[in-house]
Amino acid sequence: MLSFQALRLRKLSLSGVALSSKKPLLEAREISLSYDANSVFADLSFVVHHREIVALLGKSGCGKTSALSVAGALTPPTSGEVIFEGKSHRAVTPKISVVFQEPSLLPWLSVERNVSLALEFKSLYAAKKQRKERVAAALDEVGLTHAAKRFPHELSGGMAQRVSLARMVVRGAVMTLLDEPFSALDAFTRQSMQELLKTLIRRHQCSALIVTHDIDEALLVADRVLLMSPDGLHEFDIDHELGGERRRRSIRFLDLHEAIAEKLND
Ligand SMILES: Nc1ncnc2c1ncn2[C@@H]1O[C@H](COP(=O)(O)OP(=O)(O)OP(=O)(O)O)[C@@H](O)[C@H]1O
Ligand SMILES: [Mg+2]
Repeated sequence: MLSFQALRLRKLSLSGVALSSKKPLLEAREISLSYDANSVFADLSFVVHHREIVALLGKSGCGKTSALSVAGALTPPTSGEVIFEGKSHRAVTPKISVVFQEPSLLPWLSVERNVSLALEFKSLYAAKKQRKERVAAALDEVGLTHAAKRFPHELSGGMAQRVSLARMVVRGAVMTLLDEPFSALDAFTRQSMQELLKTLIRRHQCSALIVTHDIDEALLVADRVLLMSPDGLHEFDIDHELGGERRRRSIRFLDLHEAIAEKLND
């Protein structure tokens, strides 16, 4: 079995000095979050680079959703700061899209109108014809052209989550935050959705921070994994270890899986 050193596990320094020198798209600087007197996490520092997919992995209740929410400026940190595109990130921006575990579609709107809603930002204003074209193109990218006129109750779970991905695409966001987006799907559908997500992120040259508790998902999708544990964040450079080839049954994949599982259960 490979040692942690061989797997390039790095404990991220609180000051962030262990982080890469490339200018990040998003940077969390020693963020802490407490609800009343209860600390959810303390002094987390991490970065997401341009065109990078980072998975945030951890046990249930460790604060993954909360960390994602702080990263997206949906929740202010108790202390610390999030920097996005070089500036302090304190308000929701259309440049960052969010995909939740539940697709959160409006039941009274068709698929195409649900996607069109993602353009309801002043800064994303587009004429009606352009909007229609953009929505049609996004639906095409996620393979839902045939379902454009359907309503949410007429969709399978996988299709509904494809609508969420179409919203991400139509908005032209530079970054997407995803909170366990595929955990409610069956294994087969989940795999095709993971592939689709990777394709979309690469094609649109954006970045993603994806929360998951599924080690396989993190290894299949991410360039880097940030493991949230009680003693802080630990980083695994998956891209370096596995490259583009992600075969579930390869020795390297299994070794890395085991190393992460061990760390998760420490
Ligand atoms: N709005 C809130 N008010 C008070 N406590 C909260 C709030 N949101 C989350 N918490 C608490 O913060 C902790 C972390 O919750 P969070 O949902 O971030 O964990 P998680 O890692 O995403 O869990 P899961 O894997 O089950 O989704 C939990 O103890 C939770 O009860
Ligand atoms: Mg959660």
